[in-house]
Order: sequence, then structure tokens, then C-alpha cells
Amino acid sequence: MHINIRNEEPKDYHVVEEITREAFWNLYIPGAMEHYIAHELRKHPDFIKELTFVIEVDGQIVGSIFYSHAKVVSPDGMEHKIITFGPVSITPRLHRQRLGRKLITHSIEAAKKAGYNAIIIGGFPYHYKPYGFEGSKKFGISMPDGKYYTGIMALELYKGALDNIKGVVHFSPGMYPDVSKLDEFDRQFPAKEKLVTPAQALFEKAASEIDE
Ligand SMILES: CC(C)(COP(=O)(O)OP(=O)(O)OC[C@H]1O[C@@H](n2cnc3c(N)ncnc32)[C@H](O)[C@@H]1OP(=O)(O)O)[C@@H](O)C(=O)NCCC(=O)NCCS
Repeated sequence: MHINIRNEEPKDYHVVEEITREAFWNLYIPGAMEHYIAHELRKHPDFIKELTFVIEVDGQIVGSIFYSHAKVVSPDGMEHKIITFGPVSITPRLHRQRLGRKLITHSIEAAKKAGYNAIIIGGFPYHYKPYGFEGSKKFGISMPDGKYYTGIMALELYKGALDNIKGVVHFSPGMYPDVSKLDEFDRQFPAKEKLVTPAQALFEKAASEIDE
């Protein structure tokens, strides 16, 4: 199996969205919106093209990771730029074969080389602890409601990068596209049934878990 990681190109957009849709389908909501987020994020000024990668196995794309600019606003109103990633996905038939690990590690190394300071993300801690992400509470970085959630995690890309960055994290508006157009967008992909699944309840629970 030959594995290659490279930047995403326009010719990849549709297949990347299709894989993203497959990976997230019925996982967090009945249906999925992450393929639409990917589609809209690319057009947003906060999108970071040079950190957005696809992973290929034997010449076929099997996954992708998207990056965007975000910020931490400190109590005095000062804005500190940081970056975030997501959506990240691997095609379901190849889960748990270390492809996600290769892709995420590659992107983190690229972010370090490009001189970025830190990555702050939202997600399941078991997905991101292996890369050194820690709950953002440790760094004094909360969500806009002032709360610290176990699902909001940070990774410094060099020692002390977050020492003087404390406050509230704001992800890019590009990560929250207008969902009223989602159904129309989704019709260009093969029909799939939207279901309520136990995974969605687990996600709801995890997403509201406070870091004590
Ligand atoms: C998340 C995702 C990209 C991971 O890719 P993957 O190729 O399956 O992951 P890897 O095999 O590289 O796993 C890397 C490590 O992450 C952790 N991990 C990954 N998936 C996990 C799971 N379902 N449960 C627990 N730990 C998991 C493990 O520590 C794993 O290492 P291990 O297999 O040696 O134990 C992939 O599962 C996916 O596309 N999921 C659906 C979309 C999604 O949830 N994206 C993340 C949104 S926050």
C-alpha cells in the first residue's frame, strides 16, 4: 500500500467532499454537514490552503484535513491569532489503520514548519490526545460562554507558545456556514438515509462535558 500526502487541489474537491460526507454521515447529526463546511470554508478568507491536505492510498484519495485561522480574545480585548483544524476524515472502510494518524501528524509538522504558534480544536479527546493535545483549560482558554469543555483542546507548536495567550477562543465564521442551503448542496451526492443513532447522543454528551 503506497501512501502519499499532498495539498488539496481543485480537481479533488468533489471526491474530498464525498469522503467527508461518508465519514461523518449520521455520526453527529442525522445526515452530515461537514462536507458542506469543507465546501464553504475553502471560499472563506480564514481558510489555510497550504495546510489543507489529502491522503492517497495507491493513488486514490481516502481522507483529508482542513485548517483555518481562529483567534483567542484576552480579557483586555487583545486578539491573538491561532489556528484550528477540521473537518478531518478518513473513508470509513479504512478506519483504524493509522491513516488518520499519518495525515494529522503530517499537517501538524507542516504547521510547525510554517511558524504557526498553536492549534486549538474541538472534538473527542481520545482522537487528539495521541498528538499531545490537552484540554484548553490548562492554558486558560475558554469557549465564548466562559466555560471550559473537555472537548476543546490545544497543542503548542513550540514551547511556551500559549504562555501569554489566555481568554476566549473564537473559531472562524467559515466553520459555521448557512445551513439553510445544506439540503440543496447535499443533493449532488448519492442519496443516503438520515438516521438517529446512539453515536449522536454520545456526541451531544461529550460536547457539553465541562472540564472540572
Ligand atoms: C477520526 C479519524 C479521522 C481517525 O482516522 P483513523 O485513520 O481511523 O485513525 P488512526 O487509525 O490513525 O488512529 C489514530 C489514533 O487515534 C485514536 N483513535 C482513532 N479513532 C478512534 C476511535 N474510534 N476510538 C478511540 N480512539 C480512536 C487512537 O489512539 C488511534 O491509535 P491506535 O489505533 O493505535 O489506538 C476517522 O476515524 C474518521 O474519519 N472518523 C469520522 C469523522 C470524525 O469523527 N472526524 C473527527 C471529528 S472531531
